[in-house]
Amino acid sequence: MSVAARASNVRVDQFFTGAEARFDRWRSLLQAARAWEGTARQRPEDEKYQAAITVSFAELRQWEDFFAYPGQALLRSLSERIASGDAGGTARLVQSLSTALLTHSYRSNLTDWEGEEQSPIGLSDRVPGAGEETAPHRPYFEVLVVSPARPAAWSELAQELRKLRRPQDKFIYEPVFVGSFEDGVLATILNGGLEAVMIYEGIPFASSHHNPVLREVLTSHLAASGIGANSVQYGLALAQGLKQLRPELDIYFLSDREVEKVAGDTSAACVRRVFYQVEEPLELHLSILDGIADRYDTPYFDNLQKYAQRPMGTFHALPVARGKSIFKSNWIRDMGKFYGLNLFLAESSATTGGLDSLLEPTGNIKVAQEKAARAFGADHVFFVTNGTSTSNKMVEQALLAPGDIMLVDRNCHKSHHYGAVISGALPLYVEAYPLTQYSMYGAVPLRTIKKALLDLKAEGKLDRARLLVLTNCTFDGHIYNVERVMEECLAIKPDLIFLWDEAWFGFARWSPFYRRRTAMGAAAILESKFKDPAYRAAYKEQEKKLGADLDPKDKSLLETRLLANPDKVRLRVYQTNSTHKSMSCLRQGSMVLVKDPDFHTVEEQFHEAVFTHASTSPNLQIIASLDVARRQMELEGYELVNRAIQLALDVRREVNSHPLISKYFRVLGADDMIPAEFRNSGFVDYLTPGANWATAVKALKEDEFALDATRLTLVCGSAGFDGTQFKNLLAAEYDIQLNKTSRNSVLLQTNINNTRSDIAQLIKVLVEISQGIEKKLADGGTKGREAFASRVKSLMTDVPNLPNFSSFYGRFREDPSSKTSEGDMRSAFFGAYREEQCEHLKLSSPEIDKRLKEGPELVSANFVIPYPPGFPIVFRMCRGMPSGNTHVRRQGTKRDALLNGFS
Ligand SMILES: Cc1ncc(COP(=O)(O)O)c(C=O)c1O
Repeated sequence: MSVAARASNVRVDQFFTGAEARFDRWRSLLQAARAWEGTARQRPEDEKYQAAITVSFAELRQWEDFFAYPGQALLRSLSERIASGDAGGTARLVQSLSTALLTHSYRSNLTDWEGEEQSPIGLSDRVPGAGEETAPHRPYFEVLVVSPARPAAWSELAQELRKLRRPQDKFIYEPVFVGSFEDGVLATILNGGLEAVMIYEGIPFASSHHNPVLREVLTSHLAASGIGANSVQYGLALAQGLKQLRPELDIYFLSDREVEKVAGDTSAACVRRVFYQVEEPLELHLSILDGIADRYDTPYFDNLQKYAQRPMGTFHALPVARGKSIFKSNWIRDMGKFYGLNLFLAESSATTGGLDSLLEPTGNIKVAQEKAARAFGADHVFFVTNGTSTSNKMVEQALLAPGDIMLVDRNCHKSHHYGAVISGALPLYVEAYPLTQYSMYGAVPLRTIKKALLDLKAEGKLDRARLLVLTNCTFDGHIYNVERVMEECLAIKPDLIFLWDEAWFGFARWSPFYRRRTAMGAAAILESKFKDPAYRAAYKEQEKKLGADLDPKDKSLLETRLLANPDKVRLRVYQTNSTHKSMSCLRQGSMVLVKDPDFHTVEEQFHEAVFTHASTSPNLQIIASLDVARRQMELEGYELVNRAIQLALDVRREVNSHPLISKYFRVLGADDMIPAEFRNSGFVDYLTPGANWATAVKALKEDEFALDATRLTLVCGSAGFDGTQFKNLLAAEYDIQLNKTSRNSVLLQTNINNTRSDIAQLIKVLVEISQGIEKKLADGGTKGREAFASRVKSLMTDVPNLPNFSSFYGRFREDPSSKTSEGDMRSAFFGAYREEQCEHLKLSSPEIDKRLKEGPELVSANFVIPYPPGFPIVFRMCRGMPSGNTHVRRQGTKRDALLNGFS
């Protein structure tokens, strides 16, 4: 699709990131300017091009009110050039402005603020860093000022703010002025560079912008997020609304009333500071910088940098510390050259010198973790340097004791199964729905989870059900309705604890779109729901109908949207995330997030679990990168995450609408990945005509499952490739790496690291591969075409069934006749240590098939775990045990499993 077409085609994808849609508008303007410049020389009388650029500029102009750069003066200058017929001057100015925007050079480059000719447009006293070109880099940001003052007064106000700048300021900012509640919301959505907001009391509600597209963005966001001004006090309502959209923003409120009263208003809790408007502008300026410094500050990383610069004599183990054994070596000097000196200067095995101890943090690691807790909306955060594989085991060891029941998605990561081995808890596997055609599983329906809980209740075991573990989102992108799952489960068991394995989903906190579907986002929603008198009243109504103690025999409970008893619930939520998978963190960096009012009751166990699993030699660079990843997300996560989503939507659209690529490849939409019964809102897919931000958010609010757009299942079976083949082809021939494969698909993923160039490369490669297929088909004659069709059929149609969990072998069940299927993983695990109880069979051997058919029963003595994704396909102690209690040891490699079609 051409850039111009994209810019005028208003779709939900454009609303994910103001930045990308904005760049498109500038590219369109540049195209129009070049076209005008080209014709103006030859046919100055042709007014068509001037008219076109006038329209293009008008389209762009309204959106630019929400950004500090290029700002009113440069835009005015551009408008004058267009109006005066100066085609060349227009093209030059548009070129320099769009380059500055695309490269972000205006954030540090003085001349960008002066236009392409560095002409004296009277800006020298207003640009960032003016007069301080030689100063070290100071991060630049923008501050939104929502003011009821006349727009004519804004530039004066801006000048006043700029005068407050001091050479010693660590950061530099430019104000962006808007005049109403609605424009405040729009600016916050569109301008990812905003870090702070000043709201003056007395602002009006309605936007001054009459652009229908802006109106659509606004109304859909307001409706979708429930933001609204419910009183005449729009200022505080705006502060609350903006905090919902972007919790990381610092909000300042300026009032000319009794500020003490405003500050004491509970709705002002989201405001960082309240100022009496006419007082202390310097205080305000310093507060803004202080707020940014608080987020910028990375206590562990900062200290590590200082430590690295100190002349340390090291008499502890760790020869690489300070790098002398490397840089002086005759043989391994290249390692030093490759990694650079700092890596070794920043290595230590000491916990003194301000380096703190990850196992028992009391200093800067503790502060870094507290900052991460603030950023992620948790009560506590624990840094982990051995990946989420370890975080999961820590949480499970801390929360579960032998004999407890742990409800867990059978398709979960291996760490949870090992968590059961370690804790001695009995896993009760709940099944995800199958996506047989694509040889993968979806997520676990809430009905299945409720049924498992009600069955436990019927069997008198509900009190032992302690933890529910679910993967959110799944490897393939299925996102749970986290709020609803917790709410309905708590209706059945008010003290059930939740562990949301968000290994892949840590970034979602920074998307207002996804946040409500994260463990912490949903916990915050439920927390306020349970305090709401209307909720209590609704619960009382339910109690009248269903009773206080739900009857597990009552089948209607499975269909009923259950409410939890707000007076009884204990909302105990844990989340683990592989920070390294979705944020700028070194490999294995992971976090455990805790939001648990009863954490004090498990705190000791939790610390024991940390001691059990954490290395006594944690990697300092991983800890530092966890700290830095938090800084980045708090300062630019909104912009980066929205861009990653945008890029994913671009790939989806380009692949599925490309005339050649779409003949052989397809990215699966929400409708392919989630059966209609789980999409109650009627949402089909992000790319379906008519889909917009509002319909997508409605789906995220209501539907049982949603699809994370950044996880792209690309069907390649229709191009004649199985997943592994295609993955290898991309890696070997095109230097494209990807992660998981299935029988007929590969999983692509976008993250905060991707750029539009990456997407362009992927599309180009798919075009090339498609052309190759076309040529082969054309040259191969009927035989070739038949062979291709039969290969496609075998990959796409003749797909194997996906097995469910069979059962635990009877010996590992307390009561084999019980309706619930939990089993003792630990005994089974260690039972297989007895070599004399095991026999060895090859997984793909006919002997296995024969034994499965005719007995004696087989019991797996090993997990069989293909990687990726690291989710077992065969567990220990699956049915059935051969006579003489012999376990079967898997022989061969994970290749056996792959050959069975399970990759
Ligand atoms: C759902 C899930 N949980 C946990 C993990 C383990 O995370 P890590 O690789 O950080 O140890 C993975 C890894 O792929 C995963 O997919």
